[in-house]
Order: sequence, then C-alpha cells, then structure tokens
Amino acid sequence: MKGAPRSEQFDDVYFSAQDGFAETLHVFLDGNDLPERWAGKERFVIAETGFGTGLNFLAAWSLFEATTAPNQKLDFISFEKFPLDREEIELHLQPWKREFPELLATLLKKYPLLVPGFHRAALSERVSLTLVFDDVNKAVAQLETPVDAWFLDGFKPSTNPDMWSATVFENMARLSKEGTTFATFTAAGEVRRGLGTAGFDVRKVPGFGTKRDMLTGTFKGLDQEGLNQGAGK
Ligand SMILES: C[S@@+](CC[C@H](N)C(=O)[O-])C[C@H]1O[C@@H](n2cnc3c(N)ncnc32)[C@H](O)[C@@H]1O
Repeated sequence: MKGAPRSEQFDDVYFSAQDGFAETLHVFLDGNDLPERWAGKERFVIAETGFGTGLNFLAAWSLFEATTAPNQKLDFISFEKFPLDREEIELHLQPWKREFPELLATLLKKYPLLVPGFHRAALSERVSLTLVFDDVNKAVAQLETPVDAWFLDGFKPSTNPDMWSATVFENMARLSKEGTTFATFTAAGEVRRGLGTAGFDVRKVPGFGTKRDMLTGTFKGLDQEGLNQGAGK
C-alpha cells in the first residue's frame, strides 16, 4: 500500500492511496484510449484540470516516449490554482521515482517559479509542458489551442464544484474537435450532465480500485438547436 498526499481544504486525495500510478494508467491513459489515439499524429495536445504532483503528466510523457516515432510531438497543458513547490512534488512522487527517474528529474529542474500565469517549458525536443498557475475558470477562456484529450482531475465535485463548472465544460467544447476524448475519476451526475450538455457523448465505465464507476467520452458537438449530436446514438 502506498500513501497519498491529501488536501484538507477539499477533503480529498491527490491520487488513489491504493496506487496513484496504477490509477493514472487506468483512469486517464486507458480512459482516453492512449496510446492508440496519438498513433500517427504529428502533434497531440492533452489538457488537464489540476496538475497537482504531476503524476498524470509524467505517466503520459513516459507512455508517449515508449510508443511514438521521432517526428511526433506532445503538448501537455495543465491548470493549477494552488501549485505545490518542487520539494513537495519530489516528496509525493518518491513511490514512483523508479518508473521515470530521468523524466522526474527533468520536470523538477524545469518546474517554474510559483508565479501566476502561463509557464511553457520544452522538456525535451518532442515534449512541452505549459503550466497555467491560475483558477481554471479564468485561465481556460484564454486558451486557443485545439485539444485532443482532456484529463479532468480536480478533486471531487462535492467539495470542489469550481473545477466542474459550466465555464469549464463550455470551454472544453470550444477547444475540442470531433474525436476529442475526456476521462475523469468521478461519475457524479452533475459532471455527466454538464459534459453532455456541452456536446460530449458521455459513458460510465468501471472506475479504479474502490471506485465503482468513472466517466469517459468523446466530443460530438452540438446541432443548430444546441442538442448533443452524440446523444442517443
Ligand atoms: C486531485 S488533484 C490533481 C492531481 C494531479 N493530476 C496529479 O497528477 O497529481 C486536484 C488539483 O486541482 C487543483 N485545483 C483545485 N481547484 C482548482 C481550480 N479552481 N483551478 C485550478 N486548479 C485547481 C488542486 O490544487 C489540485 O492540485
């Protein structure tokens, strides 16, 4: 059993206390059908709500290195309102440092100062990380990059409703294209409905560990009456 850092403010853990890395693989990577979805694409963009320790990012980067060709690039964008500092990240990721020793060292080296705003860093020739230290509701409206996959990881909706707002879902729709996917650890009804209203085809699938369900889905868009194109198909 591995422990997990916890937020008192939101009464939730940053990742599963059972095994955070296995949770990331199940929820966010398998949930977005990776690596299949980035196969053959020259550029793939992932956007995440809640960078936290960077565990999801490191797992995605590691999988990208293992499964892509030299001409492929990954752009990872993550929103974080309450950034951890470098020492906290290093401490919390100790249990998995053998999974990606060099990638973790590079992340720690390039991790920005905790100053609000957009911070973009080239972590390798093929992988860039844009950390946005701000409230996602404010910052997501400033993003203009089309997104291929969303990782929704912002503490549970019951204690952190801000992370699951109509503003977030509407901007997700604005930045998504046909085939864009999302995955999240929660199966809360308001998240299911919010993403459906924004134009995502939402599926309830088995969750990780003790969580019975989670959500995944694909962007279908809205028709002229504002109805979900994927609903009922
Ligand atoms: C469950 S943790 C994310 C775990 C992370 N993905 C990882 O790999 O460690 C949720 C994160 O969302 C951040 N957060 C909470 N409310 C936010 C908001 N309104 N805007 C941006 N980030 C927020 C928290 O500070 C926390 O780091």
